[in-house]
Amino acid sequence: MKHRHRVTLIPGDGIGPEVSEAATKVIDASGVDIDWEVAEAGAAFIDKYGTPIPEKVIDSIRRNKVALKGPVTTPVGKGFKSVNVTLRKSLNLYANIRPIKTYKGVESRYDDVDLVIFRENTEDLYAGIEFMVNDEIAQSVKIISRNASRKIVKAAFEYAVNNGRKKVTAVHKANIMKLSDGLFLRTAQEVASEYSGIEFDNVIVDAMSMKLVLNPEKYDVLVMPNLYGDILSDLASGLVGGLGLVPGANIGEEQAIFEPAHGSAPDIAGQNKANPTAIILSSVMMLKYLHEGEAADRIEKAVETVLRDKKYLTPDLGGSSTTYEFANAVISKL
Ligand code: NAI
Repeated sequence: MKHRHRVTLIPGDGIGPEVSEAATKVIDASGVDIDWEVAEAGAAFIDKYGTPIPEKVIDSIRRNKVALKGPVTTPVGKGFKSVNVTLRKSLNLYANIRPIKTYKGVESRYDDVDLVIFRENTEDLYAGIEFMVNDEIAQSVKIISRNASRKIVKAAFEYAVNNGRKKVTAVHKANIMKLSDGLFLRTAQEVASEYSGIEFDNVIVDAMSMKLVLNPEKYDVLVMPNLYGDILSDLASGLVGGLGLVPGANIGEEQAIFEPAHGSAPDIAGQNKANPTAIILSSVMMLKYLHEGEAADRIEKAVETVLRDKKYLTPDLGGSSTTYEFANAVISKL
């Protein structure tokens, strides 16, 4: 008998509801049996709940252990805490994993990018410890711990071993932040010494930005603290055709949230033209996590075929198809 999974679905806001609906249709069409528990979170729900992230959303993920999430808007400057940071910290989802690769049919400057970014997800400048020293000076505290650094670097090496990857590169700024990034780098070197079969090197984040633009094909698995991971994920998405293509997973010891790397894209929200590839590929990562590898592979192949055929590309990739036309094309290839 088929196993029934219960999964929390956070559609989010902006383009979130459109792309999430596309993804759930594709998953349902693949034959995997999922009972979706819809949870409302994001800026659009502040009036209803008094917070963008009601406690019952976190409870739902604690219970179901797995969530698929669309993007949510985080107001800039002041106001409520970021939904994403709250979820990642309260569930201790320490590893943010973003595979970035070129797809045939998608115009980009490079042919052969295939890298995976492991971003530490719970600390660094995102710990949210900020205060005004006086009216003129603001201060942010950067936290780097040996424990969290070890966990993310180990996750990167374990991924490399299990997925036939050859090299792990640690990205840091230890030449300037000698204590915090120094601790990250030392910890990475210690973990690397436990994995003799995988090559290891380290690159300073500013140099890494240049190297990624010049020769992205040279890189394999990258591991780094939170802020550099946030920035380099977007940079790397630009190497392969944009944010509409890059999926992601936030993994902890007990729970996992799968979500695209992109945000709520207010500039195109509600127009049925967002590219759902990133969230569909996030669903592929989720299905693998749920041991539904066969369906995951079928969906991934269907997405690759639709991209390669170029008939149903969304406007971000130079096409004129809608979100749902793209999703339906994927479904028809299943
Ligand atoms: P964004 O990723 O929403 O958009 C950047 C650019 O990429 C825009 O031009 C947008 O149209 C385009 N884009 C993004 N996703 C696309 C898709 N699927 N298809 C086609 N084009 C796409 O970044 P932005 O504008 O900086 O952030 C908007 C809001 O999203 C902010 O409030 C931000 O805090 C939030 N955000 C939320 C995230 C999450 O929930 N995981 C992640 C990143 C940002």
